[in-house]
Amino acid sequence: MNMPAPARPPAETATDFARLPQLPADVFTAPLKRPAHVGEDWLEPSQAVYSSEDDAIWNDLFARQMDVLPGRAASAFMAGLQKLNLNRGGVPEFGRLSEDLGHLTGWSVVPVPMLIPDHVFFWHLANRRFPAGNFIRTRETFDYIQEPDVFHDVFGHVPMLTDPVYADYMQEYGRAGWKAMRFNRLKALGALYWYTVEFGLVQETDGIKAYGAGILSGPTEVVYATEANSPNRIMLNVDRVMRTDYVISDLQPTYFVIESFEDLYHQTVERDFERLYRSLPPGFTYANSAVIDIDDVLHRGTQEYLLRGGRGSGAAPV
Ligand SMILES: [Fe+2]
Repeated sequence: MNMPAPARPPAETATDFARLPQLPADVFTAPLKRPAHVGEDWLEPSQAVYSSEDDAIWNDLFARQMDVLPGRAASAFMAGLQKLNLNRGGVPEFGRLSEDLGHLTGWSVVPVPMLIPDHVFFWHLANRRFPAGNFIRTRETFDYIQEPDVFHDVFGHVPMLTDPVYADYMQEYGRAGWKAMRFNRLKALGALYWYTVEFGLVQETDGIKAYGAGILSGPTEVVYATEANSPNRIMLNVDRVMRTDYVISDLQPTYFVIESFEDLYHQTVERDFERLYRSLPPGFTYANSAVIDIDDVLHRGTQEYLLRGGRGSGAAPV
């Protein structure tokens, strides 16, 4: 007797990333106005020419980070700084940087004028191109800028791209972005990016270290994230993280910790995100300071910094 074949979802056609794929009409993304001088790829025709003052700002930012990062930054990050000679002085030249990075993991660094649309960002990542801001902050905005500049993007992100497993994770994240867009679950995938690529912590034999660029490119958060009593430190669980809200312009109430970059890769790339997207609500379920039953908690934070009012109140990041 012939049994009817079980119903199967339509086969996912692999997206071809050689050219920028067309954004489907039923995908909702934030609109961004494209400057007239860039094309659909949003790439600048060339890297900005930096003045000696710009180079001095880079050098001062670099020196400030070197006061706080050793012993607190992930060893893969510190090794990446060395491999790319990012300490040679001045804003790095992207051509040379891309050549060095290309030999190590096949990645390159490309200049973009500003934050670029999600689908274009994902497309570059899927092609192992890291878009970096084509400008540097000023002395007035030395301590904090919201829009990522070349220091955040190159100093914060690029050293980690020398790690082969992390480099693969970033490419897969780009591919995953296109899938998340088709399910309109970019907010959830954005939370994963936030809690790993920007604010991730990793367990090393001698303690918890930071590998997220948002932590590593500023002087305060690396100490707070790895040592302070206020924030929660919880082992990464992808389902949980993708349901968790985050703060954009202040220190995080919660950080998520991975065992290793292999662990991050297995937890994310090797799982069925389609099933997950079908079960995820459009908004977040958990507050950014919440500790829930399923959490594997390494440190339950006091949230003193948050309770005292955070950045606006001038509270100490304790
Ligand atoms: Fe970033």
